[in-house]
Amino acid sequence: MSQYPIAVFVGSLRKESFNRKLADAMAKLAPPEFSFKHVNIGDLPLYNQDDDGNPVESVTRVKADIAAARGLLFVTAEYNRSIPGVLKNAIDHASRPYGQSAWAGKPAGVIGVSIGAIGTAMAQQHLRNVLAYLDVPTMGQPEGFIQAKEELFDATGAIGEASRKFLQGWVDHYATWVRQHASD
Ligand SMILES: Cc1cc2nc3c(=O)[nH]c(=O)nc-3n(C[C@H](O)[C@H](O)[C@H](O)COP(=O)(O)O)c2cc1C
Repeated sequence: MSQYPIAVFVGSLRKESFNRKLADAMAKLAPPEFSFKHVNIGDLPLYNQDDDGNPVESVTRVKADIAAARGLLFVTAEYNRSIPGVLKNAIDHASRPYGQSAWAGKPAGVIGVSIGAIGTAMAQQHLRNVLAYLDVPTMGQPEGFIQAKEELFDATGAIGEASRKFLQGWVDHYATWVRQHASD
């Protein structure tokens, strides 16, 4: 197992999701001691507090994926100026039952790509609010508000030339953030 296993949450279920592609391309920019695992949140039921005492397998699995990680990476779409419901649903599931949240203390980075000009800024800000409540130390800078443009990815799916320096810098800061805040 790598020294820094990271649980990746993509805030979009779309097959051709820009955010999924961004997450995969960013993982390739990370130092070798980091590994990235996409957490499947698409099969979670809608959160219902009545089920806290009897969680289905998908809920237990998501919480185990978080527990096994030393850091979190959120790469999210913006839906109607906020967090896509599928991501908020996953966050709520893993925060419960009360007192048994999986999130606390896991260092996180938040980034996202959208076709809109503000590049998921509103969704990211809402997400930061939620993560603060959940006691997730979230990297403040650099922010990454990425607009989906033709040249964002090259033919191999890697980050295109125009964005590579910025995103390499973002990943470098993220790696430092995780190293500083990850517990043993
Ligand atoms: C329900 C819905 C709401 C959206 N709202 C926003 C929005 O508030 N801001 C924005 O920049 N793009 C918005 N979009 C467009 C998304 O940026 C675009 O669909 C993007 O491709 C989503 O990310 P993905 O490629 O990872 O699925 C919205 C799309 C959908 C389907």
